[in-house]
Amino acid sequence: MTGVLWTGEEFLKAVGGRVVGSAPSAVSGISIDSRSLMPGEAFFAIKGDRVDGHDYVRDALDNHASVVVVEESKLGRFSRVQPAIVVDDVLKALERLAVAARARAKGKIIAVTGSVGKTSTKEMLRLVLSASGSVHASVASFNNHWGVPLTLARLPPDADFGVFEIGMNHAGEITPLTKMVRPHIAIVTNVEPVHLEHFPSVEAIADAKAEIFAGLEPGGYFAVLNADNPHFERLSLVALKSGAQVMSFGQAKDANARLLMHSVLSDRTAITASVLGKDVAYHLGAPGSHLVLNSLAALLAARLMELDVKAGAAALADFKPSTGRGERHVLTVNGGRATLLDESYNANPASMRAAIALLGQTKATRRIAVLGDMLELGEKADDMHRDLLWALEKARIDLLFCAGPHMRALYDELPEKRRGGWAEVSTDLEPRVLGAIRPNDAIMVKGSNGSRMSLIVKALNARFSAGNAPA
Ligand SMILES: Nc1ncnc2c1ncn2[C@@H]1O[C@H](COP(=O)(O)OP(=O)(O)OP(=O)(O)O)[C@@H](O)[C@H]1O
Ligand SMILES: [Mg+2]
Repeated sequence: MTGVLWTGEEFLKAVGGRVVGSAPSAVSGISIDSRSLMPGEAFFAIKGDRVDGHDYVRDALDNHASVVVVEESKLGRFSRVQPAIVVDDVLKALERLAVAARARAKGKIIAVTGSVGKTSTKEMLRLVLSASGSVHASVASFNNHWGVPLTLARLPPDADFGVFEIGMNHAGEITPLTKMVRPHIAIVTNVEPVHLEHFPSVEAIADAKAEIFAGLEPGGYFAVLNADNPHFERLSLVALKSGAQVMSFGQAKDANARLLMHSVLSDRTAITASVLGKDVAYHLGAPGSHLVLNSLAALLAARLMELDVKAGAAALADFKPSTGRGERHVLTVNGGRATLLDESYNANPASMRAAIALLGQTKATRRIAVLGDMLELGEKADDMHRDLLWALEKARIDLLFCAGPHMRALYDELPEKRRGGWAEVSTDLEPRVLGAIRPNDAIMVKGSNGSRMSLIVKALNARFSAGNAPA
């Protein structure tokens, strides 16, 4: 067992329920996945979208869970499962532990939401704040009804900073999560037409993001907002009504953290900014104009907590995009090299435009975009795909491959010489993409996760494997 996150007594008090077997004396961590569970951790049998944790309770105990938290109604499925805590509802039990974790937390708490850039901003905050103290932050994009309480339940009481990603697909989802997190600083990266299928308008999306202010700690803490976003005023009004101080980042002249200059280099971005009147020059360890404002939000948050912004900014040199979100690979093609930008994890109009712009700034003889459908965009989906035409023109993309029925709308608009190929599904497009690559190409693959564009990335890496290590 590594360290004590919760004493047995604290844990039982917070979780509630009925103990079967001998109660643990301590819990070293919180797990909802028996495969990654470390000895001594408590296992919560959460029911996810695809699997029910109750199917893995035995595995968790075999892997030396200190205790398993299970549901009363499912107890009949097990014989001699112990030590266990039996509760009415496992997710509610995890939430109770999360609330207890927040109540005992001593550090400053930051929550991040927005249509795009939540994880990037959260990871930048992890780096920036680590220059000033210990940081606990969400794993990956653990930003939903189980991800947020899980992250909170794992918060060590003496962490100097807690950083929480909060996401949503529908109105009303952020409110309970932010009330659990109770941030001192709430960041909204931006508001864009994402998950539009579930909203009547982009304004309604802005209102749903603004729910994050409902959880802000009282006492004039901070709402950190994107001054360049068309919904800035709408968000500001809600923040002000909640008693927050509004602080802004962006290119706008009056932004509190203002971008002065940036230049996208092959492996990083050089940035100069003025953060609450203090000039800082730094390198962000990944290329991309779209990432710049995320870093400003992180530095503004640091400055609002009166931290060393210079040291925080220097730490951003270590920022790396995660898998499928801009990760770069070098391909070896016919003895030459080509660059692959893996953006296959997800897509919406905002991140699509950002990735196309980045491809346009990538050094290459030919620039090839391989795009899959952006999902959940509702009735205007075809129009939103067609509207990418200008972004492709502006970035001087030479060749476009498309997969999916919505992408057909865009593909049909292309001039003949730019048409690489279209297919209904990504696997059918794959051989044509593989056959088209030449040395000195830059190729960017992007689409919603459900469009399965990652299969093309995998195939490219497998075929041109000699140098497929991340660039
Ligand atoms: N400010 C931004 N504007 C446009 N695109 C961005 C921005 N920040 C990040 N991106 C791009 O959007 C994609 C998703 O980024 P990120 O994972 O940070 O977002 P997220 O909001 O956490 O997404 P998710 O909802 O999937 O958790 C990446 O390809 C990234 O490069
Ligand atoms: Mg995320």
